[in-house]
Amino acid sequence: MYEHDILIVGAGLAGLRAALESIEAGKNTAILSKVHPVRSHSCAAQGGINAALTDRGDNWEDHALSTIKGSDYLADQEAVEIMCREAGENLIDLEHMGVIFSRDEEGRLGTRRFGGQSVARTFFVGAITGSAMLHVLYEQTVKQNAQVYEEWFVTKLIIEDGECRGVIAMDINSGKLEIIKAKSVILATGGIGRIFEPSTNALICTGDGLALAYDVGASLMDMEMIQYHPTGLAGNGILLSEGARGEGAYLLNSNGERFMEDYAPEYLELASRDVVSRAEQTEINEGRGIDGCVLLDCRHLGKSKIEEKLGYLQEVAIEFRGIDLAEQPIPVKPTMHYIMGGIKTDFMGQTDIPGLFAAGECANVSVHGANRLGANSLLDTIVFGRRSARGAIEYSSQINSISKSKEELNNETKRIQNIINRTNGERSATLRNEMGEAMTSGIGVFRDTKSIKIAKQKVLNLIDRYENTSIDNKGKIFNTDLIFNLELKYMLDVALTICIGAENRKESRGAHYRTDITERDDKNWLKHTHVAKTDGEVQFYTSDVNITKWKPEIRKY
Ligand code: FUM
Repeated sequence: MYEHDILIVGAGLAGLRAALESIEAGKNTAILSKVHPVRSHSCAAQGGINAALTDRGDNWEDHALSTIKGSDYLADQEAVEIMCREAGENLIDLEHMGVIFSRDEEGRLGTRRFGGQSVARTFFVGAITGSAMLHVLYEQTVKQNAQVYEEWFVTKLIIEDGECRGVIAMDINSGKLEIIKAKSVILATGGIGRIFEPSTNALICTGDGLALAYDVGASLMDMEMIQYHPTGLAGNGILLSEGARGEGAYLLNSNGERFMEDYAPEYLELASRDVVSRAEQTEINEGRGIDGCVLLDCRHLGKSKIEEKLGYLQEVAIEFRGIDLAEQPIPVKPTMHYIMGGIKTDFMGQTDIPGLFAAGECANVSVHGANRLGANSLLDTIVFGRRSARGAIEYSSQINSISKSKEELNNETKRIQNIINRTNGERSATLRNEMGEAMTSGIGVFRDTKSIKIAKQKVLNLIDRYENTSIDNKGKIFNTDLIFNLELKYMLDVALTICIGAENRKESRGAHYRTDITERDDKNWLKHTHVAKTDGEVQFYTSDVNITKWKPEIRKY
C-alpha cells in the first residue's frame, strides 16, 4: 500500500519545493512530516531570500563573491555559482506562485541589505518571509493533491544492496510502524538547533535526517561549522531578525558605543554573522556587556518603519520583554542558529548512498562553507530542493521494482517496544538539557582544544546513558514521550559528529574559531571535514574544496 517513486521526508521549504517539482514531473510522490507542513521550522525564517536581479544592475557573480567570502572560502565555488545563477529565476517563480513580497516606493520588489552582502539584494515579506513562502508552497501542494503522511516519524532508512529503497516510519497518531517503499528518498528534515541550548530553532529541529543518513553510512561534512546568530533575544534565544540591522539598527555595548566600528569599520553591524557574533562575545567577555548581552537599538528607525518593516520583531519584543523597539533598545546575544555542515550531496542532492537525496539545512552541497550569509538559506532550500527532486526523478526512473521483506519492520518494532518497556531509567529531558549545555559551552562562538574535548566526553557519556533512559508514557497513541526519546538519540549521534569535526579542524575559519589556534590555515585546512560510519566504525577524513575563480584572500569587513 505504501509505495512511491519518490518519498520526501520533511515538509519545510526544501521538501515542499522538491515535492512540487516531482509531482509536476508526473512521479508518484509523497511527503512525510513529523508535524503539519506549515509548522515546519522554515516558517520561522524572518529576514528574506537573496537574489541578484539584473534589472537592478545586480549580477550573480557579485552575489557569489559575497557568499564565498562569507563562507571564509570553504564553500565549493561551483555549487555557489549554481545557487547564485539560479536565484533570480527561482525568486520570480515564487512570486508567480503567490508569495507577496514587500515592495519599494516604485512598486517593484523591495530589497534590504543583509550581512556580508556588498549591496541590498535580500527580498522579503516584512519579517515573516519564511512563513509567507511556506504557506504558498503548501497551498501549491494542496492544489496538486499531494499525498502527505502528516505527523509520521521516520525511525530508519531501508537500504537494499547498498541503495535506499524507502523508510520505516511511525504513524504518530496510532503508534504503528510501517514500511514505506520508495524508489528514492529525499531527506529535507531541516537543522539540528536543539542540540544546543538556547537556540533560535524550533523544538522539532533535532537533526533527524542527518542521523538517519549517518546511520546508513552517508558522510556528514563540515559539521563543526555552527552558526551563532548575533541577535537572539536574551534568555530564550528567540530570533530577532538581521532584517533589523538591514533596516539600519545599531548594536551598542554598555557604554552606548557602536562597537562594530572597531571590528568591521566598513560593514559595521552588517559584517558576516561569525564576525558580528565574535565581536559581541568579545565585548561581553571584556566587561562591556549588560547581563551577558549587548543591545540592539532600533529607536532611530522610528515607529512607523519598525511597524511596517519589522512588525514581527516588535510583537516579539513587546510579548516577551515588554519592550517597545521604538522606545528602548533590546538585549540580545549570540545564539545558536544554523548548521553549515550536513549530509554531503552533489549538485543534484545525491548523497553517498544511491537513491538517497538530501536538500535544505540537513544537506551540505557546500554553498555556505564555514559561515552562511543571512537569507542564503531560503535560497538554498528553493534552488537545491528543486534540484534534489530532479536528481531523484532521474534516479527513480531507472528503478523497476522495490521489494522488501517484513523482517526489518519486525526488528524495528521490537527495538522501539524495548524502549517503551524500559522502566526506572533516566528521563530523556535530563540528558537533553545536559547535552544542550555541554554543546553550547564546548562548541561555542569561541572554542579550544579543552572545551571541545570536554563536550565530546560529555556526549559520549550521554550516549552510554541513553541506553538506560525510560519513558513514562507506555501508550501507543500520540506518544510524544517516545518521539522525544527517539529524537534524543538522533541528537546525540549528530552531536558526536560535531565534536569530531571540531576537534580535528586545527585552524580558525568562519564560525569555527579556536582561541588556541587563531589563524586560518589554507595550506593545511582549505579542506572539508567528513565524519562517516563504515561497518559501524566512525571514520574521519578530509576532501578538497572546489575553487573556481575566487582565490582565498584575507577576509575583512
Ligand atoms: O535574521 C534573520 O532573519 C535570519 C535569516 C537567516 O538565517 O537567513
